[in-house]
Amino acid sequence: MHLMVVGGAGYIGSHTVRQLLAVGHSVTVLDNLSSGHREALPATVELIVADLLDPPALKAALLSAKPDAVIHFAALIEVGESMRSPGRYYQNNVTGSLNLFQAIVETRKIPLVFSSTAAVYGDAESVPIPEDAPKRPTSTYGHSKWMVEQILHDFGVAHGLPYTVLRYFNVCGAAPDHTIGEDHPNKTHLIELALLTALGQREKMFVNGTDYPTPDGTCVRDYVHVMDLADAHVLAVQALSGGAVSGQAFNVGLGHGFSVRQVLDAVDAVVGTPLTREEGPRRPGDPPSLVADPSRIKSELGFDPKFTDLNGIVQTAWDWHRTHPHGFKS
Ligand code: UFG
Repeated sequence: MHLMVVGGAGYIGSHTVRQLLAVGHSVTVLDNLSSGHREALPATVELIVADLLDPPALKAALLSAKPDAVIHFAALIEVGESMRSPGRYYQNNVTGSLNLFQAIVETRKIPLVFSSTAAVYGDAESVPIPEDAPKRPTSTYGHSKWMVEQILHDFGVAHGLPYTVLRYFNVCGAAPDHTIGEDHPNKTHLIELALLTALGQREKMFVNGTDYPTPDGTCVRDYVHVMDLADAHVLAVQALSGGAVSGQAFNVGLGHGFSVRQVLDAVDAVVGTPLTREEGPRRPGDPPSLVADPSRIKSELGFDPKFTDLNGIVQTAWDWHRTHPHGFKS
């Protein structure tokens, strides 16, 4: 197949491009490069620099690239920033996605895989969380993704647009050959911050809250490796293009969680020196525990994650950061 990967120069997008190429598909990337990197893509991949807020450019890109399917990653992703700038989040994530879907139905009505998030569940009643758990986002970011899921539902009904939604839990790690990895303009993720602290770029690690109702009092998350997540996209787009039922949502996680303290212990073990830790107050908006029930994606798409050991996951991220201490600009 020929895939258009929207947001393909970003962290998850670039790893997915790599896995799509590895199994024989071809790719055109559309990205505005606001947080993505040309260097994250093989030189042979066509890159169209365009913005989701530019509908004529989207239609032109679809008509010139003639993809068989689209994978849509492009979005703003920071929970905290979304609470301070809701307008920016709704414009980029909701209006941008709407423009893309409209361009697709007006040009080539091709299957679409959409990147959603565990943030649509908000404070879950219990874990592990199945896909039909109540959707009660606690952030603008989560709301924006849930709104797009609802828009997709309506486009499916009205226009017969085939789509699949993947809801990611905490994505981490890097390609094992450490040529691509995580490099966001603003760093907020636990593992990335810890590894940059190990490189001396920050003084210490703050543990955000130790009084949660979890086994050790710190927040628990389901850490899924970016290469496994990339494989989930390959499976999803192939199944949908092969005629699988449209309109399904799948959690992408491992089904077990690690606490902030466990993650920092793993980082200490991998880098070989303990980081200075400071225990502080809770970070507003953090739910105590977010762990996926991944049974649906395992049984229906054959998802079979390879990176299940926390130290092994952290090792791939460490190999990327220590060889690229300043990301793609290193
Ligand atoms: N944390 C710290 N110290 C830090 C950074 C993070 O204690 O320096 C804590 C956070 O407070 C949280 C946990 O580590 O309890 C994980 O935080 P991250 O920022 O790494 O990730 P989040 O769980 O907040 O969010 C991520 C994505 C979201 C997605 C969510 C789904 O950024 O987009 O996973 O589970 F919705």
